[in-house]
Amino acid sequence: MATLKDKLREKIEAHRPRTARLLKEFGDVKVGEVTIEQCIGGMRGVKSLVTDISYLDPFEGIRFRGKTIPEVMAALPKPKGKDYPYVEGFWYYLLTGEVPTLQETLDVVEEFKERRKVPQYVFDILKAMPKDTHPMTMFSAAVLSMQNESKFAKFYNEGFNKMIAWESMYEDSTDLIARLPVVAAFIYRLKYKNGDIIAPDDNLDLGGNFAHMMGIPEPYDDVARMYFIIHSDHESGNVSAHTTHLVASALSDAYYSLSAGLDGLAGPLHGLANQEVLSWIQDVMAKMDGKLPSEEEMKKFVWDTLNSGQVIPGYGHAVLRKTDPRYMSQREFCLKHLPNDPIFAFVSRLYDVVPDILREQGKAKNPWPNVDAQSGVIQWYYGLREYDFYTVLFGVGRAMGVLANITWDRALGYPIERPKSLTTDMLEKVAGI
Ligand SMILES: CC(C)(COP(=O)(O)OP(=O)(O)OC[C@H]1O[C@@H](n2cnc3c(N)ncnc32)[C@H](O)[C@@H]1OP(=O)(O)O)[C@@H](O)C(=O)NCCC(=O)NCCS
Repeated sequence: MATLKDKLREKIEAHRPRTARLLKEFGDVKVGEVTIEQCIGGMRGVKSLVTDISYLDPFEGIRFRGKTIPEVMAALPKPKGKDYPYVEGFWYYLLTGEVPTLQETLDVVEEFKERRKVPQYVFDILKAMPKDTHPMTMFSAAVLSMQNESKFAKFYNEGFNKMIAWESMYEDSTDLIARLPVVAAFIYRLKYKNGDIIAPDDNLDLGGNFAHMMGIPEPYDDVARMYFIIHSDHESGNVSAHTTHLVASALSDAYYSLSAGLDGLAGPLHGLANQEVLSWIQDVMAKMDGKLPSEEEMKKFVWDTLNSGQVIPGYGHAVLRKTDPRYMSQREFCLKHLPNDPIFAFVSRLYDVVPDILREQGKAKNPWPNVDAQSGVIQWYYGLREYDFYTVLFGVGRAMGVLANITWDRALGYPIERPKSLTTDMLEKVAGI
């Protein structure tokens, strides 16, 4: 029986000559012109990263390994009676680009069970942290604390071989994916449920187990599957993916790299925006005594926020130029499972007014909602009301994309990343100033 690792090996061996040829024969071919605006303005649109795990089209949204979100959800095997696929099968798909059979998926489910044991010292470290530590800090610290388990670091210290370095990166990455739900649920129960920890259940898949360990009944298992899949990847240039890739390019192992990527995800302009959306909404709801604002009232709240110099969380994107399909898939879930929820009604009303206002203000290049505008609603509805935890959920999902990427980075021997910087004097000279 071919394991996921064997399949991945086959894929890597078939892929390597393509990368080698591009570098050797076409390395001088220009793929874009870098402008001063791109140098100073966060490298927007500079085509200088390669990944086959996902691609973000500004108007269509994300494709994972060539498939849109609805196509992924339809193609992958699902647990019996569930609406969303096994996360384990999605990990197989992200790594190999092939839709696994049910049996191949179940093999990964079994593999994850063997790998998911979290060392006791991780829990001890988390317990020792100050009670008011942000859950993202706890999550990143937990990942980093396991670095001494890294098989890649051990492999490096015992004699590094570039051609097989991906194997220990794969091992670390798979260990991490299997363990992260356990760590995340532990943080949640420790911080918000008086440390009343629920042990994993061997009969459940990753999504089912996460819901179980969080102590939230069905259909939260499907929420977890959907949530982790749609948050997994957004091509290579976003802060969490790029940071993970950058750190790994120094041959840092998956623990160092993911922990750094999670630190980027914790930023208010990136993954923390989902927490900010809910806190903004609650603020407005409190001012309205819980009543749904009329369109006119909502417009005033949005303008007040903009006029005070703040951004509208959950709106805008560095690459996307339409409503995020990750927003839409969560909206579809809400329409099916919680159509009358007051916060959902609030988010829908925001959708009615914000794009026009952002267009009128004329600053944001994309006036449409992104993934974060909707995600908190579902979590809140199922009883997960501690919204500073939401980014941890994002992080569990995002880990799959960034770890699949760094496994392939090692497989293809991508070098240490080192862009060139210029001085302002130099730019002024180029500009003829
Ligand atoms: C996502 C985000 C960081 C992208 O930043 P970006 O690529 O610089 O976006 P733009 O090029 O459209 O920004 C141009 C201007 O519009 C502003 N803008 C962008 N999105 C905005 C929003 N949602 N509300 C108000 N202003 C916004 C920017 O702050 C910037 O203003 P400045 O020129 O005064 O600095 C930005 O849209 C944002 O801050 N959104 C809110 C936070 C969020 O939802 N993050 C999650 C992303 S998945």
